[in-house]
Amino acid sequence: MTRQKILVFRELPPDQLARLQAEHDVTVANPRVPDQVPAFYASLATAEGMIGSSFQVDAALLASAPHLKVISSVSVGVDNYALAALAERGVMLCHTPGVLTETTADTIFALIMASSRRLVELSNHVREGRWTRNIDTDLFGWDVHGKTLGILGFGRIGQALARRAALGFGMPVLFHNRSAVNVAQDVPDLLGKVASVAMDDLFQRADIIAVVLPLSDATRGLIGAREFALMKPGAIFVNGARGAIVQEPALLHALNHGTLRAAGLDVFATEPLPQNSPLRTHPKVTALPHIGSATHETRYAMAEMATSNLLHALSGKVPLAVFSGQKE
Ligand code: DGY
Repeated sequence: MTRQKILVFRELPPDQLARLQAEHDVTVANPRVPDQVPAFYASLATAEGMIGSSFQVDAALLASAPHLKVISSVSVGVDNYALAALAERGVMLCHTPGVLTETTADTIFALIMASSRRLVELSNHVREGRWTRNIDTDLFGWDVHGKTLGILGFGRIGQALARRAALGFGMPVLFHNRSAVNVAQDVPDLLGKVASVAMDDLFQRADIIAVVLPLSDATRGLIGAREFALMKPGAIFVNGARGAIVQEPALLHALNHGTLRAAGLDVFATEPLPQNSPLRTHPKVTALPHIGSATHETRYAMAEMATSNLLHALSGKVPLAVFSGQKE
């Protein structure tokens, strides 16, 4: 098989990099590291395959990669890629669904727990030496078990989250998904424990709302002032999907002047979160640095799957996961 030119644009585990190097000519150049930027752009000119994540691959960048045949993203989300330009050019896009489902659902459930029970705030209370007597009612939390969870987006991660809530915490679960979900067929273990509702109903009826949608033109800015105003007084809002699905000024307004109890956020419109973002230090916000899938096991599984995707695509085999349209 002829060796082809691969551009690796984020760090890969050494054994996965070695798999690529065994078959192809590999350049490693991370465009987020200033002294690697020239090498990144230079190797775009010849790259036939690319593998990486967390970098905007827009139409202009694609225009500088005339030989590109496949991009293998080490992520499930594909919002960093100019999908129309890729389709027009016939460049295949692979991604890593499945292997990160349970880990990401764990993270979102942890944010639900942390926001409701004020875990970070109270841990800081201890750490900073303020635990000098029994805590008072002003520091009490809010039960999670038994609360109604509303899940926006009922794909793999939404369903895994629903399992944790319904089967582990006795929570009634409402969900909204743009395409129909057949609970009896797709998630039989949740039959009778989850109900599909209209989006506005979900906002009005859920105690805790979790966003698990992909970012696309249809979901960008989807949650704004109107949606926050629909939420129950004292509701908790959790975003484990993409920051740009939420209008952050509206979220801030709901926290400062509305009745939102708290927000748990793993994702932000701009990442890393700018130092001057009011969300960074907001007392009602538990903020995480986009760690949905960030465990040793899962990040390794993602890298391995993405490497296989790229090797398969370059050798004319069917990759494990080709992105073929937006699903939740
Ligand atoms: C994903 O896989 O899409 C995660 O959010 C990491 O970017």
